[in-house]
Amino acid sequence: MCVKQLVIFAPLLAVTLAIYPYFDTQDFIYNVPKVYRISLTLDKLLGYYELKPSKDPEWYIALGIARGQLEYTINELDKSVPAKLKENLNNITRRMDRIRNNTDFSKLVFRSKDYEYVAKTMFENLEVLAAMLEPITIGTMGTQKPYRFSFEQYVQEARTKMPTRKAADACTMQLLISAMETQTTQSDGACEMTPECNAQLIQGSGLAFQQTSRVRATGLARIFDCMESTDLSAHIYKLCIQIYKETKSLESWDHPAGTRTLFMQQIFYCASHGYGEFIKPRWMNKIMAWQEPKGCYADDRQPFVRLTGFVGPSTAPPAKDREEEYRVKKAAESDGGACNSLTSAMALGSLAIYVRALLETDQAFQYDVLA
Ligand SMILES: *[C@@H]1O[C@H](CO)[C@@H](O)[C@H](O)[C@H]1NC(C)=O
Ligand SMILES: *[C@@H]1O[C@H](CO)[C@@H](O)[C@H](O)[C@H]1NC(C)=O
Repeated sequence: MCVKQLVIFAPLLAVTLAIYPYFDTQDFIYNVPKVYRISLTLDKLLGYYELKPSKDPEWYIALGIARGQLEYTINELDKSVPAKLKENLNNITRRMDRIRNNTDFSKLVFRSKDYEYVAKTMFENLEVLAAMLEPITIGTMGTQKPYRFSFEQYVQEARTKMPTRKAADACTMQLLISAMETQTTQSDGACEMTPECNAQLIQGSGLAFQQTSRVRATGLARIFDCMESTDLSAHIYKLCIQIYKETKSLESWDHPAGTRTLFMQQIFYCASHGYGEFIKPRWMNKIMAWQEPKGCYADDRQPFVRLTGFVGPSTAPPAKDREEEYRVKKAAESDGGACNSLTSAMALGSLAIYVRALLETDQAFQYDVLA
């Protein structure tokens, strides 16, 4: 496989250089082979899930958003991008369509009723969500240094924060129900949320998955014109600055067990909101290196999410819930060993953003500087 890749790249790069000698940003040319490598990774990842369909709603949400990024990228491609790469990207979007078309959405497994509402609302609005592209820019995040404390302290600190996944699901549902009502009745008015949910979303601070779930909820609030009195963009900016510090910390702690999903989610969410600091060739290489030989992504994050208090301690739930919990766990793991569909979803989403960022010529050449 590796040898074959090399065979593919070498002549293409040569061709690129030969045909486009007038490139003013030399570094952009070097992004083209990077995108080839990503496209091979994506193709393999999608190939895995085409054969073994996931039952995890997050996989389909990421699929829809990644498809939007790719479609936009293909439509806006610089003329200098080789035709073969364009064809590769087109093939990938077709594969995404096939996966979606062959999915029986009634078979998906949801972790709770609240989450089911959230995920289904996101499905219904997936085209809107996929089309909301923020321009990617660099230079607003500042030089955030990794935390000086240890990973264990980070985990402890996270425990003291709101919200838990259950609370986050409940508030996101509340937000979306209100947003949908506001849309259908055409009454103006900021989506109503309880003070607790408002506090959860806007005030206080979060860490780890608590923080990424706030970014998602705030992003949804912004798309659906909620909370007009709050500057949601400024809030997302604030959240992503802190996340950037966390992303760098996870790296400086050498990606402790169970944190890969979080690392990729941070990149996916904050780069989607336009923060180009999350685009680093070094991070791209890590994400690609984490792919399992069979194409999927794995991350044993359960102990980590428990330690951070994001999901509750594993007290024995009532029998019926236990059955549900088992099914959710099974759905997340997919078939065939360690594959994890949330991890795979975050890899898909983050890599699709990388494709777009690396090919957007006015910014593309800057990412190596940031490495
Ligand atoms: C794209 O898909 C077509 C049809 O499956 C295939 O013939 C072609 O080789 C693919 N192109 C690339 C660049 O992979
Ligand atoms: C998926 O379904 C849509 C709508 O039914 C259809 O237009 C499209 O061609 C299908 N795509 C693939 C790749 O099967």
